Amino acid sequence: MAVRKDTIYQKFLSPLVNNFLIDQEAMRRFRSSIDWEAQSDRLTNPTLVYPEYYTSGNFHGIEGGYLTIGAAVTYDAITQYALSPNETWVRKALVDAIQVRPRRILDLGCGTGSMTLMLKQAFPQAEIIGIDLSPYMLVCAEAKAKTAGLNIQWRHDNAEKTGFPDASFDLVTIALLFHETPPQISRGILQEIFRLLIVGGQVVILDGNQKTWRQTEWLTEIFEEPYIKSYAKGNIDAWLGAAGFGKVETEDIWWLHQVSSAVKPLLDRYSEIIPEVNHNLPNWDNDSGHYPAPAY
Ligand SMILES: C[S@@+](CC[C@H](N)C(=O)[O-])C[C@H]1O[C@@H](n2cnc3c(N)ncnc32)[C@H](O)[C@@H]1O
Repeated sequence: MAVRKDTIYQKFLSPLVNNFLIDQEAMRRFRSSIDWEAQSDRLTNPTLVYPEYYTSGNFHGIEGGYLTIGAAVTYDAITQYALSPNETWVRKALVDAIQVRPRRILDLGCGTGSMTLMLKQAFPQAEIIGIDLSPYMLVCAEAKAKTAGLNIQWRHDNAEKTGFPDASFDLVTIALLFHETPPQISRGILQEIFRLLIVGGQVVILDGNQKTWRQTEWLTEIFEEPYIKSYAKGNIDAWLGAAGFGKVETEDIWWLHQVSSAVKPLLDRYSEIIPEVNHNLPNWDNDSGHYPAPAY
């Protein structure tokens, strides 16, 4: 798919961002500080099959999407402006929505790891795993975690089919992924999260504000995002409900963004106790350094 030249981003913002708002020199230094071939090869999962939507579309107007070094190197510099008024405040809204005391966290579509690092800083005792389809984004994430001295595991995998056993996590987070996935993929990812969470476990999702985006179509024209309009028309609360979650709520964050939260209930929608054994989490009872089971 060719890069469209007529988006608001390509016509007006890209020259502004590239010439004035991005520290090109710092980006060049970062790019040349990494042996991309060796590092991305090391992180690449050779058995992974990329979903069709991922290889056929451009994201952020970048040809080749996330499967390029350029996308990974420029991602943080551009994203800070997409998360206005302030990236840290917006991301902190996801952390603030967490009600469980997580012992094992999965961050899906972790990208360059900005959200994952913040989660590890908020919950230093928790084991945390970031998953992404782009080995280049993971190379950046790993480099950032190393610089910050944070122990995080990075996996090249598909959020729709992670391969982890049932009930392996008590918190799953997603930041800025669903506006880039076709609706049926988002629904598939929510089903996978339902499977991965223990009963009482929480999912927290940060993304664009669907209500605002529906009312201001030009906002969805800024970046070349192939599925952004279907995301804006949708309703994450309804998707979470359909996947079986309870305690579903969405909060507006600075008008442009939203944080949604939901919990895997004890009873399924037909009032049967959800049959699952928390066999993958370690027994923390005697370990005073860690948190007890999810607390409400
Ligand atoms: C907009 S970025 C968000 C990155 C990060 N979560 C953040 O908050 O900055 C979307 C990321 O999702 C990844 N992605 C897209 N589809 C995915 C899937 N099915 N499984 C895992 N990662 C996916 C992309 O490679 C990209 O890194």
